[in-house]
Amino acid sequence: MKAPVVPSLPYIGHSVQFQNNALKLTKKVQKKYGDVFQISLLNERVLTFLTPNSTKEIFLDKNNIFSSKKGWEFSLGKTFENGVMLRDFEDHKYHRSLLQESFRHDAIENYLYIIQDSIDDWLENLKTRKELYLYSSIKQLMFDISLDLFFQNVNNEDSHLLNKMFSDSISSATSVVRSPLPFTKLKKGLKARKYLLNYFEKKAMEVVQKEKNTIFEELVLTNKEVSGLSNFEIAEHMIFLLLAAHDTTTITLTNSIYNLAKESFLVEELRNEAQNTDVLKIADLKNGLFAESIFKESIRLYPPVPFSLRCAVEETTVENYSVLKDQYIAVSPLLLHHDERYWSNPEKFDPKRFIDVEQNNESYFPFAGGAHTCLGKFLASYIFKNVVYKFVQTYPNFEIESELNIRPTPIPHPVKDVLLKIKN
Ligand code: HEM
Repeated sequence: MKAPVVPSLPYIGHSVQFQNNALKLTKKVQKKYGDVFQISLLNERVLTFLTPNSTKEIFLDKNNIFSSKKGWEFSLGKTFENGVMLRDFEDHKYHRSLLQESFRHDAIENYLYIIQDSIDDWLENLKTRKELYLYSSIKQLMFDISLDLFFQNVNNEDSHLLNKMFSDSISSATSVVRSPLPFTKLKKGLKARKYLLNYFEKKAMEVVQKEKNTIFEELVLTNKEVSGLSNFEIAEHMIFLLLAAHDTTTITLTNSIYNLAKESFLVEELRNEAQNTDVLKIADLKNGLFAESIFKESIRLYPPVPFSLRCAVEETTVENYSVLKDQYIAVSPLLLHHDERYWSNPEKFDPKRFIDVEQNNESYFPFAGGAHTCLGKFLASYIFKNVVYKFVQTYPNFEIESELNIRPTPIPHPVKDVLLKIKN
């Protein structure tokens, strides 16, 4: 069966509407055409599947048909070339297995130890200022945490420049202009990539075993031991890790702290849980079910990867719909997470749904699935818990007067930042 083609203007297709508000466009199309349809994005027909089963089938990809590399290449390819998500099948499996070693239990506990100073500095800074712009301040905190996770101790001059390079590379991922014309985000992103590749490669030669290694050091040491990846390949992976880790956790923390400010009973409960949690111990963090429910609800409402893209490397069918070779495919955790057929009152921020009934909701895909399932999903939740536990313990009373309006695509971000104020 052929999926309906949604009519659109020649050349432009649905690109502008999708760029402006992908949720609104896809919901409107879904209402008229059903859960499977073809829209036109950037001169390509994108076959979009909006059911839980098709999403699962595409993520699991049992027959190695759906290429993540070809799907993501268009938006991420130039700056994040050869990152693990931009690899497929056997080649992906090999690279992922070498990366996975840096996400061991004991290695992660070391990372938690390493990031404490940045979290404490952030809280201390708030003591004197009494207020901050939530999103931008958390964005900076997450850059500082990335810097810790990669290099631990960097001098001020390097840290300033690295911050800029981190920022330029990440913003190039959502640049609308996809050729590196002068002054575009993409041009800056490519310059940042070159700088970072060089920096990581140089630093890789200095790595020695320590008591507590950073992610980068772990990766270099693993690969020395098994004579796996070259320093250049490791550098390419690090640039992708930066992208994968940064905006995802930033928006999740922003949205959660905003909702904590709105619902003070959540703060009380979280403080109780924090009291019984050693934030450096994974076993303790895993028991933090209330913080977990806030984390889960935040990434349900605003999945940091709202659409995942794939490209079929051969002809196939999904739920009886024919998929052509080289056809682009989209699935959308965002649409599924906002679908009233699968969630009660989906627009409401309600962490309780993850404590009680909807724990095993089959329409929940914040970390995708299958071979490309998020490699940092546990680390992300531990970092999240470290920040929120410490925050509510230091500042039980805080407020945000304005509304936080989040645009869910291309990646979720606030339309306007909000001011968080500490109350006495
Ligand atoms: C709330 C936080 C996060 C969310 C919701 C999230 C979500 C995702 C999703 C949906 C994918 C797969 C996309 C696809 O298959 O199309 C992904 C991949 C990935 N994520 Fe995360 N992520 C988060 C944080 C992190 C962190 C903190 C790290 C690392 C420190 C990380 C590392 C990765 C990596 C390496 C991949 C690629 C895996 C592969 O292709 O094999 N993520 N993430």
